[in-house]
Amino acid sequence: MTPPLARGPARDLRLGVNIDHVATIRNARGGGHPDPLRAARLAASAGADGITAHLREDRRHMTDRDIERLVGEIELPLNLEMAATAEMLAIALRHRPHAVCLVPEKRSEVTTEGGLDAAGGRLLLEPFVAELSAAGIRVSLFIDPAPDQLEAAARLGAPVVELHTGAYCEAWLEQAGTRAAERELERLRVAAAEAEALGLECHAGHGLTFETVPPIAAIATLVELNIGHFLIGEAIFGGLEPTIRRMRAVMEAARAAPQAAGGGGDLTRR
Ligand code: PXP
Repeated sequence: MTPPLARGPARDLRLGVNIDHVATIRNARGGGHPDPLRAARLAASAGADGITAHLREDRRHMTDRDIERLVGEIELPLNLEMAATAEMLAIALRHRPHAVCLVPEKRSEVTTEGGLDAAGGRLLLEPFVAELSAAGIRVSLFIDPAPDQLEAAARLGAPVVELHTGAYCEAWLEQAGTRAAERELERLRVAAAEAEALGLECHAGHGLTFETVPPIAAIATLVELNIGHFLIGEAIFGGLEPTIRRMRAVMEAARAAPQAAGGGGDLTRR
């Protein structure tokens, strides 16, 4: 049976805080500081609705022990990002996080570069979606905002998709308000509408910042954003709790006034 979709406070738009890069900094020196669990607890007190952590094959940030502690010792639901491999499936079934987000993974990449090929990888993905769902874990597929990927996700029986916002964020950071940024934003809007039409819960994430999040938060059918690198980097300057609080406030303002946030289609008005 699939668990209720939200275990955190009921909100229109949930914030999942990805704490991978707390572990990246810890691993730079070994030892235990900074502790990702401490970050997870601070995120909870700052208003995060969930914690996201990616256990990579090469364990470059999160470790198996981190995942065990995050499942066992924090109150917030854990969204475990992982590749569709037998090793990761066994770990997920052992720890039973609230949710698993299946992501593509390449050893050589510095971050998750694109979405899963749900359309081309049906045979590979089907047993993962089935086994995780049967264990009561909410499964999401991290996909590019493309119609064929959404249809494939629905056919696979995944209840949730997470749309990759990386191309939009890159276009925005190169030159906000340009056609390229608007085009990428439109792809995300169309995909979010299509996800709803297909009965899929829709999340989004990757590369989001205070500047890029408002038009995304303004998309009314999105229910969860997962944000990591920017929050952890910004926390160096402003502290983790104030940074997360500010992100929540920016998201909520955009949700309350979508036109002002660029939700009406014109990014240059912001
Ligand atoms: N969602 C997914 C599926 C991801 O793989 C990542 C990166 O680990 C994120 C969201 C968060 O991206 P960022 O760290 O750029 O905010």
